[in-house]
Formats: sequence, C-alpha cells, structure tokens
Amino acid sequence: MNTNSYVDFFRQTSPYIHTHRGKTFVIALDGDTVAHGNFHRIIHDIALLQSLGIRILLVHGGRPQIDQRIAQSNIESTFHNQLRITDAAAMHCVKEALGSTRWQIESELSMGLPNSPMHGAQIRVIGGNFITAKPLGVRDGVDYQHTGKVRRVDAAAIQQQLQTGGLVLMSPIGFSPTGEAFNLSYQDVATETAIALNAEKLILVTEASGIVENGDLLRSLSVPDVDRLRNQCADAPQKMLLNTAYQACSQGVTRVHMVSCAVDGALLSELFTREGSGTLVMQDHSEVIRAAAIDDVGGILDLISPLEQQQILVKRSRELLETEISRFTLVVHPEGFLLGCAALYPMADKTEGEIACVATHPEFLGRGIASRLLEHIEAEAVQMGITKLFVLTTQTAHWFLEKGFVETAVKDLPKQKQSLYNYQRNSRIFSKHL
Ligand SMILES: CC(C)(COP(=O)(O)OP(=O)(O)OC[C@H]1O[C@@H](n2cnc3c(N)ncnc32)[C@H](O)[C@@H]1OP(=O)(O)O)[C@@H](O)C(=O)NCCC(=O)NCCS
Repeated sequence: MNTNSYVDFFRQTSPYIHTHRGKTFVIALDGDTVAHGNFHRIIHDIALLQSLGIRILLVHGGRPQIDQRIAQSNIESTFHNQLRITDAAAMHCVKEALGSTRWQIESELSMGLPNSPMHGAQIRVIGGNFITAKPLGVRDGVDYQHTGKVRRVDAAAIQQQLQTGGLVLMSPIGFSPTGEAFNLSYQDVATETAIALNAEKLILVTEASGIVENGDLLRSLSVPDVDRLRNQCADAPQKMLLNTAYQACSQGVTRVHMVSCAVDGALLSELFTREGSGTLVMQDHSEVIRAAAIDDVGGILDLISPLEQQQILVKRSRELLETEISRFTLVVHPEGFLLGCAALYPMADKTEGEIACVATHPEFLGRGIASRLLEHIEAEAVQMGITKLFVLTTQTAHWFLEKGFVETAVKDLPKQKQSLYNYQRNSRIFSKHL
C-alpha cells in the first residue's frame, strides 16, 4: 500500500473508530479458531481493538481440544442431541483442555516483543467466577451430568473489571452454589454475557465466513430473516450461528457479527469498513433521517470541515453551528455516526427557503444519502408553507439540476439574501418551485 492510500484508508476508518470507542464487545472464539494458524493474528487484532478504547470480553470454546484430551485418555465421549454428556471422567478432561486453551490465549495476549504487533500492548487479562451455572439435568431420559447451562452472569463484577481497562477472558465453565463445576457451551456463555452486559456487539469468530444462502454470503440480516433461516437450515454450524444471533438479538444485543478465523484481517474489515467481511445481524436495520441536536455539532464539523477547506462549502464556526443547529437534518448510520447533513433556512417572508450545507460522508457517496436528505427537506419545507427553494453552489450545479432545480439570477433571490451575495465567491444560484 502506498502512503497516500494508507492515509486514505486510515482516515476512512475514523467514523468507526469514534463510534466503537468506549463500547463493549463480546468476542466469542470457538475451539477451531484457537487452533487455527491465523490465531495469533486474531489476537493482535483484538489487542488493537482494545488499544482503540473498546471494552473487550473474550469467550473461548474448546470442543476440538476437549475431544483430543478425551481421546488421549481412552475414554468414550457420548453425545445426545449434539450435546456432550459430561461424566466425571470427561469433566476432568474438560477442565484440563479448557485450562490449557485458556493459558494458550493468555500467553498470546501477554506477548510484547519489540518489532511485533503486540509491542506496547500491555494487556491485563482478567478472569474469575463470573458465571453461575446449573446442570442441564435429565432430558429425554438422558442425564447430562456435568454438562450445564448459564444460570446467572455477574455483570456488575465484569463491568467493574472492564472499567479498569482490563480484558476479561472467560472460559466455558461455570460454578454452582453447591461448589460444582459445569461444562458449558461457549455460545451460551457469550450470549448470556452479552445480554447481561447490554453489550453493543456480540462477535462470533468461527471457520465460517458468515451465513451462506444458495452459495452467496449474506452480508446483512434482520432478526426476522435470521428466524426464517434458522428454521430451514440443515447445516449444524450455520444453525448454531443463526440460533446464537437470534437469541442475542431478541434479548437486546443490537448487533451480532459473524466473521471467519480463516480470512486474515476479517475481524478488522468487519468492524472498520463499509463492506465488512462476514454477516451482520442488526436489530435496527436502516439508516435514520432525523433533526440535528446540539450533541451533533462535533459530528457535523467533522463532516463539513474538509469541504470548507476545499472551499466547496462556506465556512461555519462552531458557535454559528450551535445557534443554527435546529436548521439541520441528518442521515445517521445504524452504528450512530453521521453519514450526511443538509440545512434549511426559511426566509423572512416564510414562503422561500434556502437549502445549504448539503454534504455526504466521502466513504458513503453515491448511495442516495443526499437525495434522501433533499426529499426530506422538500417535504418539510412544504409543511412549513414554503413554496420555493433556492441554493447557492460553486461545484454541485449539475446535481441540483438533476433534482429539478433551474438556474436563476441574483436579482431573483429574496431581498435579505441579495444584499449578502458574495460576488467574489461567484456561486451559481438555482431554485425550485415546490
Ligand atoms: C453533492 C453530494 C452532496 C452528493 O452526495 P451523495 O450522497 O453521493 O448523492 P446521491 O447518492 O444522492 O447522488 C449521487 C449522484 O450524484 C452525482 N453527483 C455527485 N456530485 C455531483 C456533482 N458535483 N455534480 C453532478 N453530479 C454529482 C453522482 O455522480 C451520482 O450520480 P450517478 O449515480 O448517476 O453517478 C456530495 O457529493 C457532497 O457531499 N459534495 C460536497 C458538498 C457539496 O458540494 N454540497 C452541495 C453544496 S450545498
């Protein structure tokens, strides 16, 4: 990558960096991911997320590691309905396998050699008895013994640890008030923890790229889509992902991402690029158009300042924006950051209005954002009794022409605007009857 494209790429990630900072992500890594050749790169990427101010809670699985340990011990592993029946001997293997997997992850997170991506990361890994478990019990006449499920998550204790800046690492083992340990599914631990913490994201890292239908990777799904797909899905790993996403989203987690451990950098591209890399399940699926509020001033400034520097837009100070904020309409990404803005200034006679400061985030151009803003503002203007809109522009004439505006002259502007017309800037003037 040359320096320019590197700088461009870095700038394009900025809305995502701002949005993710301070948020809580639960990242679930299945046992295959921990055993994968890419695992150390995934750990570097997780360390990077942590250094960007994201609160990370890692939950690891260990099914292949447990299978291996059981095979080495020459004991029989039994399953019913794809769930392991954990007898006392198997539980011993579960503890050994998950313990050793956990130390492997902790040691990877502790790396810090100069010239390695982990240099300076200094991650503090925190663990504890955060999960209270209960036995799965007897189902279809089958006693699952030490196989359990999550009964309670000590969210307050986890929050306290995350607030200190540590990374919480959870293994799929929980303890009952009677002092017994239970073998849990890592998906259950991750989902229940994400729900209890009210996490912004649950990220499922497995070998699958995401949800595939008729050979196509589905980039984005609504919760009803997930429900439909999980009911017709015959593939066990896909069904597991769909069931986990459905459970998490229907209990308050707003985003579930599915990314592949086999694709280098999949986690970062999912979180920091528009295209993503896997499947995203969202509760609120669409961008929102809404009136701007005072808290949006910073976001609007970030969006319009580069355009002001290029003299495409007229300079507005923070103070001016603060007083004029009620004139602005915004398009907001489902993640909460600003995609576009536009302002409507009604004139003194209230029958004419000026459209100004129409801008779309450079990463999201050509997706109809400005068109939707204009339609919204036109409808708003009609409601206000405005019958004619005008706009002054230096570089976007054709865009307005294509929206039904026609060129007009300074003398046709409302009087209050004529006296302010900047002949040096020499903007072209367009108007549209509503
Ligand atoms: C003009 C602008 C707001 C369009 O935003 P957008 O969200 O990409 O717009 P839409 O997706 O609704 O429309 C895209 C279409 O407009 C075209 N378009 C974009 N800028 C244009 C311009 N300056 N002149 C002519 N057409 C333009 C695109 O080519 C695209 O058409 P296509 O799909 O046929 O190729 C955006 O380019 C921008 O922020 N420009 C800088 C600020 C500016 O000039 N504002 C207007 C002055 S108030």
